[in-house]
Amino acid sequence: MSRAASIVRRDGSARVAVIGGGAIGGAVISALREGRLPGVEPVALVDDRPVQGAGVPQVDLATALDRADVVVECAGQAVVAQSAAGILDHGVDLLVTSVGALCDPAVADAVAAAGPGRLLLTSGAAGGLDILSAAAAQAPLTRVAVTTAKLPATLVQPWMDGPAAARLRGTDRPVEVFTGGAREAARLFPRSLNLAATVGWAVGDLDLVEVRLMADPSAALTRHLIEAEGPSGAYRFEIQNLPSPENPRTSGVVPYAVLRSLAALAGRPSGVI
Ligand SMILES: NC(=O)c1ccc[n+]([C@@H]2O[C@H](COP(=O)([O-])OP(=O)(O)OC[C@H]3O[C@@H](n4cnc5c(N)ncnc54)[C@H](O)[C@@H]3O)[C@@H](O)[C@H]2O)c1
Repeated sequence: MSRAASIVRRDGSARVAVIGGGAIGGAVISALREGRLPGVEPVALVDDRPVQGAGVPQVDLATALDRADVVVECAGQAVVAQSAAGILDHGVDLLVTSVGALCDPAVADAVAAAGPGRLLLTSGAAGGLDILSAAAAQAPLTRVAVTTAKLPATLVQPWMDGPAAARLRGTDRPVEVFTGGAREAARLFPRSLNLAATVGWAVGDLDLVEVRLMADPSAALTRHLIEAEGPSGAYRFEIQNLPSPENPRTSGVVPYAVLRSLAALAGRPSGVI
């Protein structure tokens, strides 16, 4: 188990447990099993459904915590809300993909008070976080906006009534489905707007982030436009990610962002930090 500011053991190895063996977690485990990060070993999977062919033992969270130096959450906001503080209190680092969970002040407060494990966020589907974070450190940003366009069917939510969900699924033109803050976005679209929360976390002000979500039937690639302004400068990034074939709500690049985060944590940086 990790106690210091590194997940690496004396022999240079690091042990990873994954919560959620779906599109992201499954790909992370596969890549680690293939030796993508030498010495970084997947040792456990925690999932609330049986996962066939995971390639690592499926265990409960308590067992995973005894085996791992770092836990990678790839399961959803509810898991962060329920388990993050306990994982950190156990002395294990936690790398989070469901960053939107931290938009709930109660969750953010609980993880801030927990430890000695460290809470770490992966960049996920986002980019440009390095300079946004640096710019916000130079001087607080005055405007941050995220505009996301996804395939309509991926944006249907359990709280939508039948006709609204059918209209969204059947739209033949782009429609705006949400405008508002990152906190509300994370609550209403918990599996779709982690990027807005990640940007908010990077700039140190979740409440600054204005979110616009479009359902676009032509969005074969998920599009994100990230804009920011402040005394440090003006920033604009456009990202177009291929959806994961396993889960079209998720961009296919996200497992590779997780692997990049694990590489940095394990002291195997790509050279770009
Ligand atoms: N940061 C980002 O850019 C980004 C991008 C996409 C998705 N995400 C987050 O990653 C999460 C996972 O995405 P995915 O595409 O792999 O989803 P997925 O649906 O393919 O897989 C999720 C897995 O988690 C498991 N799971 C769900 N609830 C659980 C619980 N309480 N305990 C244990 N296991 C549980 C499911 O059984 C499933 O195997 C999403 O819910 C989203 O919050 C983040």
